[in-house]
Amino acid sequence: MAAQRGNFGSRFTAIMAMAGSAIGLGNIWRFPYMVGQNGGAAFIIVYLLSAVMLCIPIFLAESIIGKRTQLSTFGAMEKLSPGTRWKWMGFLTVFTPLIILSFYSVVGGWSIEYLFKSLGFAFTDPAVSREGHSAIFGAFITSVRKPLILHTVFLALNAVIVMAGVQKGIEKFTKITTPVLFVLVVLIMVYSLTLPGAAAGIEYMIKPDFSKLTSSAMLSAMGQSFFSLSLGVGCILTYASYLRRDENLLSTGLCTAVFDLGFAIIAGFAIMPAVFAAGIEPGAGPGLIFETLPFIFSTMGASAPMLSNIVAILFFTTILFAALTSSVSMLETGVAYLVDEKKMSRLKATSIIFVGCWILGVFCSLSFGPISDFHILGSTVFDFCDHMTSDFLMTFGSLLFVLFVGWKMDRESVYDEFTNGGTLRGNGRIFGVVYFFIRYIAPVVIVTIFVTNLIL
Ligand code: PHE
Repeated sequence: MAAQRGNFGSRFTAIMAMAGSAIGLGNIWRFPYMVGQNGGAAFIIVYLLSAVMLCIPIFLAESIIGKRTQLSTFGAMEKLSPGTRWKWMGFLTVFTPLIILSFYSVVGGWSIEYLFKSLGFAFTDPAVSREGHSAIFGAFITSVRKPLILHTVFLALNAVIVMAGVQKGIEKFTKITTPVLFVLVVLIMVYSLTLPGAAAGIEYMIKPDFSKLTSSAMLSAMGQSFFSLSLGVGCILTYASYLRRDENLLSTGLCTAVFDLGFAIIAGFAIMPAVFAAGIEPGAGPGLIFETLPFIFSTMGASAPMLSNIVAILFFTTILFAALTSSVSMLETGVAYLVDEKKMSRLKATSIIFVGCWILGVFCSLSFGPISDFHILGSTVFDFCDHMTSDFLMTFGSLLFVLFVGWKMDRESVYDEFTNGGTLRGNGRIFGVVYFFIRYIAPVVIVTIFVTNLIL
């Protein structure tokens, strides 16, 4: 069975695949603007606390289920808890990543457009104002044809990688791109930190403004940390099912979390100093990287047009590859379900999911233009998919995973998987603490923040 499904070849490639899933638009598109809107360093502190207290336990819970069963969510739950309703969680974890993929693919398409623009030296004219760049971006996303074509291209790239299989596709792709992403983002950060006026951005990242830290900002920090680590949707579970039996889950989890956090912080230090250097409000919102940064690139271009445009190329390449390494994990989660449970070939499974995501993605894309007046519960299709998944479904899924491992699985099995049958002594020593976090701390904190936010 395991041979048919495929396995990650080594610990390094497994970590690169998981970190690749984690590092994505969440780090480089969402994180900086959320920091900007929610009090800078204060938001980062809550985000870090959430990463340590909640994300690591959830990550471990998901990967314990995946590695133990070597199955995707539906089969895994059925195997560990036969005949119960837990298997329905499988559906949640098939549909949630696919909904995310649909809108993610639209933004992936935008990043292709901006990469092409930068390759065509479109960001070298200092005469274009910030409003000018916003207008260009607005005209692009509200149009019909081009965003749809690029959404299709982005999704097709994913399909090609996933069809090639776990080792020949996902592993081969992520083991190269994930390290490259780090190099690129560090280069951009160095450039950004050397801009005149960058100090204000650095200060913003390290000086907390607690007055902005409302309960909804705390929910956003928690949701953002789940989104960023790809938690609660079965992606980590599915990737963990491809780990070798003797893999150490704790070190895989810690490495992934450290890389993801590190990348988000570096991306923040790459973007915020540039934003301040150009005298722009940090809370600019979701348009930050597509409206504000092109303006920054072209203003900086006044003194060094080539250098600035090269940074723009690096930047949009980073975004595109970061998005791709994440989106393949979403697609893989659905494909693994069809391959495991419905015994489909990879080709057929990928094609079916491609069509489903493509259709939903078309609605997401058109919701900026022709169908912008069509609302679901007060939001456009794109916003509805985004908020429903990141604010609700991921949090709910994460809660169910920790409850399952903490309360449904027996303690011995959890211990056995966490310590590889007692052979990992270091893991054995801290098992009590980890188990306590999975069983009590994570569920209580998630429910408290969620409910407080509903009430206030
Ligand atoms: N973690 C990814 C990011 O930061 C998004 C993601 C969410 C990936 C859910 C897989 C599953 O962009």
